[in-house]
Amino acid sequence: MPGDKSISHRALILGTLAVGETRIEGLLEGEDVLATAECMRRLGARVNRLDDGSWRVWGVGVGGLREPAEPLDFGNSGTGARLVMGLVAGHPITATFVGDASLSRRPMGRVINPLTEMGAYFHARDGGKLPLTLTGARPALPISYTSPVASAQVKSAILLAGLNAPGKTTVIEATPTRDHTERMLRAFGAEIEAKEGPGGLVEIRLTGQPELSPCPITVPGDPSSAAFPVVAALLTPGSEIVVKGITLNPHRAGLYTTLIEMGADIEVMNQRDEGGEPVADLRVRSSRLKGVDVPPARAASMIDEYPVLAIAAAFAEGETRMLGIHELRVKESDRIAATASGLRANGIKVHESEDGMVVEGRGGDVAGGGRIATHMDHRIAMSFLIMGLAAQKPITVDDASMIATSFPDFIGLMRGLGASFAGQAQ
Ligand code: S3P
Repeated sequence: MPGDKSISHRALILGTLAVGETRIEGLLEGEDVLATAECMRRLGARVNRLDDGSWRVWGVGVGGLREPAEPLDFGNSGTGARLVMGLVAGHPITATFVGDASLSRRPMGRVINPLTEMGAYFHARDGGKLPLTLTGARPALPISYTSPVASAQVKSAILLAGLNAPGKTTVIEATPTRDHTERMLRAFGAEIEAKEGPGGLVEIRLTGQPELSPCPITVPGDPSSAAFPVVAALLTPGSEIVVKGITLNPHRAGLYTTLIEMGADIEVMNQRDEGGEPVADLRVRSSRLKGVDVPPARAASMIDEYPVLAIAAAFAEGETRMLGIHELRVKESDRIAATASGLRANGIKVHESEDGMVVEGRGGDVAGGGRIATHMDHRIAMSFLIMGLAAQKPITVDDASMIATSFPDFIGLMRGLGASFAGQAQ
Protein backbone atom coordinates (compact mmCIF):
# COMPACT_ATOMS: atom_id res chain seq x y z
CA MET A 1 0.00 0.00 0.00
CA PRO A 2 1.16 3.55 -0.56
CA GLY A 3 2.40 5.38 2.53
CA ASP A 4 -0.13 7.01 4.81
CA LYS A 5 -1.00 10.49 3.57
CA SER A 6 -1.62 12.06 6.99
CA ILE A 7 1.62 10.72 8.44
CA SER A 8 3.60 11.70 5.32
CA HIS A 9 2.54 15.38 5.56
CA ARG A 10 3.43 15.43 9.25
CA ALA A 11 6.84 13.78 8.70
CA LEU A 12 7.84 16.57 6.29
CA ILE A 13 6.48 19.31 8.54
CA LEU A 14 8.06 18.07 11.78
CA GLY A 15 11.27 17.31 9.91
CA THR A 16 11.32 21.00 8.96
CA LEU A 17 10.95 22.01 12.62
CA ALA A 18 13.67 19.68 13.91
CA VAL A 19 17.31 20.71 13.95
CA GLY A 20 19.29 18.36 11.69
CA GLU A 21 18.47 15.45 9.41
CA THR A 22 15.19 13.51 9.51
CA ARG A 23 15.13 10.26 7.50
CA ILE A 24 11.80 9.14 6.12
CA GLU A 25 11.09 5.70 4.65
CA GLY A 26 7.89 4.93 2.77
CA LEU A 27 6.79 8.53 2.23
CA LEU A 28 3.67 8.74 0.06
CA GLU A 29 4.76 10.24 -3.25
CA GLY A 30 1.30 11.52 -4.14
CA GLU A 31 0.72 15.04 -5.40
CA ASP A 32 -0.67 16.27 -2.06
CA VAL A 33 2.44 15.28 -0.15
CA LEU A 34 4.82 16.44 -2.90
CA ALA A 35 3.14 19.86 -2.67
CA THR A 36 3.87 19.96 1.06
CA ALA A 37 7.50 18.94 0.38
CA GLU A 38 7.88 21.87 -2.02
CA CYS A 39 6.32 24.25 0.51
CA MET A 40 8.77 23.08 3.19
CA ARG A 41 11.61 23.94 0.80
CA ARG A 42 10.14 27.40 0.33
CA LEU A 43 10.06 27.81 4.11
CA GLY A 44 13.77 27.04 4.38
CA ALA A 45 14.12 23.27 4.81
CA ARG A 46 16.27 21.12 2.53
CA VAL A 47 14.09 18.23 1.34
CA ASN A 48 15.51 15.50 -0.93
CA ARG A 49 14.54 12.14 -2.30
CA LEU A 50 17.43 9.65 -2.43
CA ASP A 51 17.91 7.04 -5.14
CA ASP A 52 16.74 4.26 -2.81
CA GLY A 53 13.33 5.98 -2.54
CA SER A 54 13.83 7.28 1.00
CA TRP A 55 13.61 10.98 1.84
CA ARG A 56 15.71 13.35 3.93
CA VAL A 57 14.65 16.63 5.50
CA TRP A 58 17.23 19.01 6.95
CA GLY A 59 15.19 21.14 9.33
CA VAL A 60 15.59 24.71 10.51
CA GLY A 61 14.30 24.30 14.08
CA VAL A 62 11.22 25.72 15.85
CA GLY A 63 11.27 29.48 15.19
CA GLY A 64 13.65 29.15 12.24
CA LEU A 65 11.31 29.30 9.21
CA ARG A 66 12.30 31.60 6.34
CA GLU A 67 9.78 33.93 4.74
CA PRO A 68 8.92 32.35 1.36
CA ALA A 69 9.61 34.43 -1.73
CA GLU A 70 6.77 32.76 -3.67
CA PRO A 71 3.24 31.64 -2.75
CA LEU A 72 2.82 28.24 -1.08
CA ASP A 73 0.78 26.08 -3.46
CA PHE A 74 -1.04 23.16 -1.81
CA GLY A 75 -2.82 21.89 -4.92
CA ASN A 76 -5.80 19.78 -3.83
CA SER A 77 -4.69 19.28 -0.23
CA GLY A 78 -6.69 20.61 2.72
CA THR A 79 -4.36 18.83 5.14
CA GLY A 80 -1.24 20.46 3.70
CA ALA A 81 -2.81 23.92 3.61
CA ARG A 82 -4.34 23.85 7.11
CA LEU A 83 -1.37 22.27 8.89
CA VAL A 84 1.09 24.67 7.30
CA MET A 85 -1.13 27.63 8.25
CA GLY A 86 -0.55 26.53 11.84
CA LEU A 87 3.17 26.25 11.22
CA VAL A 88 3.46 29.72 9.66
CA ALA A 89 1.10 31.28 12.26
CA GLY A 90 3.73 30.60 14.93
CA HIS A 91 6.52 32.40 13.04
CA PRO A 92 6.95 36.15 12.42
CA ILE A 93 6.81 35.75 8.63
CA THR A 94 4.26 36.40 5.88
CA ALA A 95 3.17 33.75 3.36
CA THR A 96 0.48 33.46 0.70
CA PHE A 97 -1.47 30.19 0.47
CA VAL A 98 -2.97 29.04 -2.84
CA GLY A 99 -4.58 25.84 -4.11
CA ASP A 100 -6.63 24.34 -6.93
CA ALA A 101 -10.31 25.07 -7.59
CA SER A 102 -11.48 22.40 -5.13
CA LEU A 103 -9.23 23.61 -2.29
CA SER A 104 -10.18 27.24 -3.00
CA ARG A 105 -13.82 26.35 -2.24
CA ARG A 106 -13.09 24.74 1.15
CA PRO A 107 -13.64 26.53 4.48
CA MET A 108 -10.54 27.87 6.22
CA GLY A 109 -12.39 29.78 8.98
CA ARG A 110 -12.00 26.74 11.21
CA VAL A 111 -8.23 27.35 11.37
CA ILE A 112 -8.31 31.12 10.83
CA ASN A 113 -10.33 31.62 14.05
CA PRO A 114 -8.06 29.86 16.55
CA LEU A 115 -4.86 31.01 14.82
CA THR A 116 -6.12 34.61 14.96
CA GLU A 117 -6.64 34.14 18.72
CA MET A 118 -2.99 33.09 18.85
CA GLY A 119 -1.97 36.40 17.29
CA ALA A 120 -1.75 35.59 13.56
CA TYR A 121 -3.24 37.95 10.98
CA PHE A 122 -5.13 36.68 7.90
CA HIS A 123 -6.14 38.46 4.76
CA ALA A 124 -8.55 36.04 3.06
CA ARG A 125 -11.31 36.00 0.47
CA ASP A 126 -14.87 36.40 1.76
CA GLY A 127 -15.90 33.51 3.94
CA GLY A 128 -12.27 32.59 4.69
CA LYS A 129 -11.27 30.88 1.45
CA LEU A 130 -7.99 30.51 -0.43
CA PRO A 131 -6.07 32.34 -1.76
CA LEU A 132 -5.10 34.01 1.51
CA THR A 133 -2.11 35.77 3.01
CA LEU A 134 -1.07 35.02 6.56
CA THR A 135 1.28 37.00 8.79
CA GLY A 136 2.41 34.94 11.75
CA ALA A 137 2.35 36.07 15.37
CA ARG A 138 5.32 37.64 17.12
CA PRO A 139 5.28 35.75 19.40
CA ALA A 140 2.34 33.31 19.25
CA LEU A 141 0.11 33.26 22.32
CA PRO A 142 -0.60 29.91 23.94
CA ILE A 143 -4.36 29.39 24.00
CA SER A 144 -6.87 26.88 25.24
CA TYR A 145 -9.28 26.02 22.42
CA THR A 146 -12.35 23.84 22.28
CA SER A 147 -12.77 22.92 18.65
CA PRO A 148 -16.34 23.28 17.35
CA VAL A 149 -15.60 20.74 14.57
CA ALA A 150 -14.18 17.24 14.97
CA SER A 151 -11.07 17.87 12.91
CA ALA A 152 -7.53 16.59 13.23
CA GLN A 153 -6.48 19.32 10.82
CA VAL A 154 -7.72 22.05 13.17
CA LYS A 155 -6.16 20.36 16.21
CA SER A 156 -2.86 19.92 14.39
CA ALA A 157 -2.77 23.52 13.12
CA ILE A 158 -3.16 24.83 16.69
CA LEU A 159 -0.51 22.47 18.06
CA LEU A 160 1.94 23.42 15.30
CA ALA A 161 1.41 27.13 16.06
CA GLY A 162 1.71 26.35 19.78
CA LEU A 163 5.17 24.90 19.20
CA ASN A 164 6.56 28.43 18.96
CA ALA A 165 4.41 29.92 21.75
CA PRO A 166 5.84 30.46 25.24
CA GLY A 167 3.76 28.34 27.62
CA LYS A 168 1.13 25.64 27.24
CA THR A 169 -1.27 25.35 24.30
CA THR A 170 -4.37 23.25 24.94
CA VAL A 171 -6.85 21.76 22.46
CA ILE A 172 -10.06 20.20 23.75
CA GLU A 173 -11.88 17.77 21.48
CA ALA A 174 -15.43 16.56 22.07
CA THR A 175 -14.82 13.72 19.61
CA PRO A 176 -11.30 12.33 19.41
CA THR A 177 -9.69 12.56 15.96
CA ARG A 178 -6.58 10.99 14.45
CA ASP A 179 -3.61 11.58 16.75
CA HIS A 180 -0.65 11.28 14.36
CA THR A 181 0.57 14.81 15.17
CA GLU A 182 0.65 14.10 18.89
CA ARG A 183 2.43 10.75 18.43
CA MET A 184 5.06 12.23 16.13
CA LEU A 185 5.63 15.33 18.28
CA ARG A 186 6.31 13.03 21.22
CA ALA A 187 8.77 11.01 19.13
CA PHE A 188 10.60 14.26 18.22
CA GLY A 189 10.96 15.10 21.92
CA ALA A 190 8.11 17.57 22.55
CA GLU A 191 6.30 17.55 25.88
CA ILE A 192 2.71 16.74 25.02
CA GLU A 193 0.05 14.99 27.04
CA ALA A 194 -3.48 13.81 26.22
CA LYS A 195 -5.99 13.34 29.03
CA GLU A 196 -9.51 11.95 28.83
CA GLY A 197 -12.04 14.11 30.63
CA PRO A 198 -15.73 13.69 31.48
CA GLY A 199 -18.10 12.62 28.67
CA GLY A 200 -15.29 11.41 26.40
CA LEU A 201 -13.66 14.86 26.08
CA VAL A 202 -9.98 14.72 25.22
CA GLU A 203 -7.64 17.47 26.35
CA ILE A 204 -4.28 17.75 24.60
CA ARG A 205 -1.67 19.97 26.16
CA LEU A 206 1.61 20.95 24.51
CA THR A 207 4.53 22.80 26.11
CA GLY A 208 5.81 25.40 23.66
CA GLN A 209 9.30 26.14 22.37
CA PRO A 210 10.84 22.69 22.62
CA GLU A 211 14.00 21.79 20.76
CA LEU A 212 12.78 19.08 18.38
CA SER A 213 15.30 16.36 17.58
CA PRO A 214 15.10 14.45 14.31
CA CYS A 215 13.62 11.00 14.62
CA PRO A 216 13.74 8.44 11.77
CA ILE A 217 10.25 7.80 10.44
CA THR A 218 8.87 4.73 8.68
CA VAL A 219 5.52 5.68 7.19
CA PRO A 220 3.03 2.80 7.45
CA GLY A 221 0.58 1.92 4.66
CA ASP A 222 -2.52 4.09 4.35
CA PRO A 223 -5.74 2.47 5.60
CA SER A 224 -7.76 5.01 3.59
CA SER A 225 -6.06 3.88 0.36
CA ALA A 226 -6.23 0.20 1.37
CA ALA A 227 -10.01 0.62 1.64
CA PHE A 228 -10.29 0.49 -2.18
CA PRO A 229 -8.67 -2.92 -2.85
CA VAL A 230 -10.27 -4.27 0.35
CA VAL A 231 -13.80 -3.34 -0.78
CA ALA A 232 -12.96 -4.53 -4.31
CA ALA A 233 -12.01 -7.96 -2.93
CA LEU A 234 -15.12 -8.15 -0.75
CA LEU A 235 -17.43 -7.40 -3.68
CA THR A 236 -15.76 -9.42 -6.44
CA PRO A 237 -16.68 -13.12 -6.11
CA GLY A 238 -13.78 -15.54 -5.68
CA SER A 239 -11.30 -12.92 -4.43
CA GLU A 240 -8.75 -13.28 -1.70
CA ILE A 241 -6.08 -10.67 -1.06
CA VAL A 242 -3.61 -9.78 1.69
CA VAL A 243 -2.94 -6.11 2.38
CA LYS A 244 0.31 -5.60 4.23
CA GLY A 245 1.52 -3.06 6.76
CA ILE A 246 -1.33 -0.57 7.10
CA THR A 247 -1.80 1.49 10.21
CA LEU A 248 -4.81 0.43 12.26
CA ASN A 249 -4.52 3.44 14.58
CA PRO A 250 -7.87 3.30 16.45
CA HIS A 251 -8.71 6.79 15.14
CA ARG A 252 -8.41 5.50 11.55
CA ALA A 253 -9.86 1.99 11.66
CA GLY A 254 -13.63 2.70 11.69
CA LEU A 255 -14.23 1.39 8.16
CA TYR A 256 -12.75 -2.01 9.00
CA THR A 257 -14.89 -2.31 12.15
CA THR A 258 -17.96 -1.42 10.07
CA LEU A 259 -17.18 -3.86 7.25
CA ILE A 260 -16.69 -6.68 9.78
CA GLU A 261 -20.09 -5.80 11.29
CA MET A 262 -21.53 -6.07 7.76
CA GLY A 263 -20.25 -9.63 7.56
CA ALA A 264 -16.95 -9.03 5.77
CA ASP A 265 -14.39 -11.81 6.00
CA ILE A 266 -11.42 -9.71 7.13
CA GLU A 267 -8.72 -11.30 9.23
CA VAL A 268 -6.42 -8.94 11.09
CA MET A 269 -2.93 -10.48 11.20
CA ASN A 270 0.52 -9.67 12.59
CA GLN A 271 -0.53 -6.75 14.75
CA ARG A 272 2.59 -4.84 15.72
CA ASP A 273 3.91 -1.41 16.57
CA GLU A 274 6.00 0.34 13.91
CA GLY A 275 7.44 3.77 14.52
CA GLY A 276 4.88 4.63 17.19
CA GLU A 277 1.80 3.59 15.18
CA PRO A 278 -0.15 0.31 15.43
CA VAL A 279 0.25 -1.64 12.18
CA ALA A 280 -1.28 -4.88 10.86
CA ASP A 281 -1.81 -7.00 7.74
CA LEU A 282 -5.32 -7.88 6.55
CA ARG A 283 -6.50 -11.01 4.74
CA VAL A 284 -9.72 -10.24 2.87
CA ARG A 285 -12.03 -12.72 1.11
CA SER A 286 -15.14 -11.92 -0.94
CA SER A 287 -18.20 -11.90 1.30
CA ARG A 288 -21.96 -11.48 1.33
CA LEU A 289 -22.57 -8.22 3.16
CA LYS A 290 -25.62 -7.00 5.07
CA GLY A 291 -26.64 -3.39 5.74
CA VAL A 292 -25.85 -1.81 9.13
CA ASP A 293 -26.38 1.41 11.08
CA VAL A 294 -23.01 3.14 11.32
CA PRO A 295 -22.84 4.89 14.70
CA PRO A 296 -22.31 8.66 14.25
CA ALA A 297 -19.68 8.50 17.03
CA ARG A 298 -17.54 6.43 14.65
CA ALA A 299 -17.49 9.10 11.94
CA ALA A 300 -14.14 10.70 12.82
CA SER A 301 -12.37 7.33 12.62
CA MET A 302 -13.55 6.68 9.04
CA ILE A 303 -14.26 10.17 7.76
CA ASP A 304 -12.58 9.62 4.38
CA GLU A 305 -14.07 6.15 3.88
CA TYR A 306 -17.80 6.87 3.57
CA PRO A 307 -17.82 7.01 -0.25
CA VAL A 308 -16.30 3.53 -0.55
CA LEU A 309 -18.45 2.26 2.31
CA ALA A 310 -21.48 3.46 0.34
CA ILE A 311 -20.29 1.29 -2.57
CA ALA A 312 -20.07 -1.74 -0.28
CA ALA A 313 -23.53 -0.81 1.06
CA ALA A 314 -24.97 -0.79 -2.48
CA PHE A 315 -24.00 -4.47 -2.85
CA ALA A 316 -25.18 -5.43 0.66
CA GLU A 317 -28.54 -6.96 1.62
CA GLY A 318 -30.72 -4.27 3.24
CA GLU A 319 -30.21 -0.65 4.25
CA THR A 320 -27.02 0.99 5.46
CA ARG A 321 -27.54 4.18 7.45
CA MET A 322 -24.69 6.69 7.61
CA LEU A 323 -25.57 9.71 9.74
CA GLY A 324 -23.66 12.43 11.60
CA ILE A 325 -21.38 12.97 8.61
CA HIS A 326 -22.03 16.61 7.76
CA GLU A 327 -18.24 17.14 7.48
CA LEU A 328 -18.35 15.16 4.22
CA ARG A 329 -19.95 18.17 2.59
CA VAL A 330 -16.71 20.18 2.92
CA LYS A 331 -14.12 17.63 1.78
CA GLU A 332 -12.42 17.67 -1.66
CA SER A 333 -16.03 17.70 -2.95
CA ASP A 334 -19.44 17.55 -1.28
CA ARG A 335 -19.04 13.82 -0.81
CA ILE A 336 -22.62 13.17 0.31
CA ALA A 337 -23.98 14.76 -2.87
CA ALA A 338 -21.32 13.24 -5.15
CA THR A 339 -21.75 9.74 -3.70
CA ALA A 340 -25.55 9.86 -3.74
CA SER A 341 -25.78 11.05 -7.33
CA GLY A 342 -23.17 8.51 -8.44
CA LEU A 343 -25.08 5.68 -6.77
CA ARG A 344 -28.35 6.81 -8.39
CA ALA A 345 -26.66 6.87 -11.80
CA ASN A 346 -25.96 3.17 -11.26
CA GLY A 347 -29.43 2.10 -10.22
CA ILE A 348 -29.16 2.42 -6.42
CA LYS A 349 -31.75 4.15 -4.23
CA VAL A 350 -30.26 6.64 -1.76
CA HIS A 351 -31.98 8.91 0.75
CA GLU A 352 -29.85 11.97 1.30
CA SER A 353 -30.17 14.34 4.27
CA GLU A 354 -28.16 17.36 5.36
CA ASP A 355 -25.89 15.23 7.55
CA GLY A 356 -26.03 11.79 6.04
CA MET A 357 -27.34 9.20 3.62
CA VAL A 358 -29.17 5.90 3.70
CA VAL A 359 -28.28 3.44 0.94
CA GLU A 360 -30.70 0.70 -0.08
CA GLY A 361 -28.54 -2.30 -0.82
CA ARG A 362 -29.38 -4.58 -3.73
CA GLY A 363 -27.81 -7.77 -2.42
CA GLY A 364 -25.22 -7.99 -5.18
CA ASP A 365 -27.49 -7.15 -8.09
CA VAL A 366 -26.10 -3.75 -9.17
CA ALA A 367 -26.79 -2.52 -12.69
CA GLY A 368 -23.85 -0.13 -13.16
CA GLY A 369 -23.37 1.55 -16.53
CA GLY A 370 -23.41 5.08 -15.08
CA ARG A 371 -21.11 8.02 -15.75
CA ILE A 372 -19.76 9.69 -12.61
CA ALA A 373 -18.95 13.36 -12.04
CA THR A 374 -15.92 13.23 -9.74
CA HIS A 375 -15.78 16.97 -8.88
CA MET A 376 -11.95 16.94 -8.53
CA ASP A 377 -12.22 14.31 -5.79
CA HIS A 378 -9.80 11.36 -5.82
CA ARG A 379 -11.89 9.26 -3.45
CA ILE A 380 -15.06 9.67 -5.51
CA ALA A 381 -13.14 8.53 -8.62
CA MET A 382 -11.63 5.46 -6.92
CA SER A 383 -14.88 4.48 -5.16
CA PHE A 384 -16.88 4.33 -8.38
CA LEU A 385 -14.14 2.55 -10.31
CA ILE A 386 -14.30 -0.13 -7.60
CA MET A 387 -18.08 -0.25 -8.02
CA GLY A 388 -17.52 -0.93 -11.72
CA LEU A 389 -15.58 -4.11 -10.89
CA ALA A 390 -18.60 -5.83 -9.41
CA ALA A 391 -21.49 -4.12 -11.26
CA GLN A 392 -23.13 -5.74 -14.30
CA LYS A 393 -21.99 -2.98 -16.67
CA PRO A 394 -18.74 -1.00 -16.53
CA ILE A 395 -18.77 2.38 -14.77
CA THR A 396 -17.14 5.50 -16.24
CA VAL A 397 -15.62 8.36 -14.24
CA ASP A 398 -15.24 11.74 -15.92
CA ASP A 399 -11.73 12.42 -14.57
CA ALA A 400 -9.20 9.96 -13.14
CA SER A 401 -6.38 12.49 -12.85
CA MET A 402 -7.04 13.44 -9.20
CA ILE A 403 -6.29 9.87 -8.09
CA ALA A 404 -2.61 10.84 -8.21
CA THR A 405 -3.10 13.13 -5.22
CA SER A 406 -3.25 10.18 -2.81
CA PHE A 407 -2.76 6.86 -4.66
CA PRO A 408 -0.54 7.35 -7.74
CA ASP A 409 -0.36 3.63 -8.56
CA PHE A 410 -4.05 2.85 -8.01
CA ILE A 411 -4.67 1.76 -11.61
CA GLY A 412 -1.49 -0.35 -11.76
CA LEU A 413 -2.19 -2.02 -8.43
CA MET A 414 -5.80 -2.81 -9.32
CA ARG A 415 -4.74 -4.14 -12.74
CA GLY A 416 -2.31 -6.41 -10.92
CA LEU A 417 -5.32 -7.83 -9.02
CA GLY A 418 -7.20 -8.48 -12.27
CA ALA A 419 -9.20 -5.27 -12.78
CA SER A 420 -9.48 -3.96 -16.30
CA PHE A 421 -9.64 -0.25 -17.13
CA ALA A 422 -10.28 1.40 -20.48
CA GLY A 423 -9.94 4.99 -21.61
CA GLN A 424 -7.40 7.47 -20.33
CA ALA A 425 -6.37 5.45 -17.27
CA GLN A 426 -2.60 4.94 -17.45
C1 S3P B 1 -6.69 14.59 7.95
C2 S3P B 1 -7.82 14.81 8.68
C3 S3P B 1 -9.18 14.67 8.13
C4 S3P B 1 -9.20 13.88 6.83
C5 S3P B 1 -8.10 14.28 5.89
C6 S3P B 1 -6.74 14.10 6.55
C7 S3P B 1 -5.38 14.81 8.57
O1 S3P B 1 -9.70 15.95 7.89
O2 S3P B 1 -10.45 14.03 6.18
O3 S3P B 1 -8.13 13.50 4.72
O4 S3P B 1 -4.36 14.33 8.04
O5 S3P B 1 -5.34 15.48 9.62
P1 S3P B 1 -10.41 16.78 9.08
O6 S3P B 1 -9.46 16.83 10.17
O7 S3P B 1 -10.69 18.15 8.55
O8 S3P B 1 -11.67 16.02 9.38
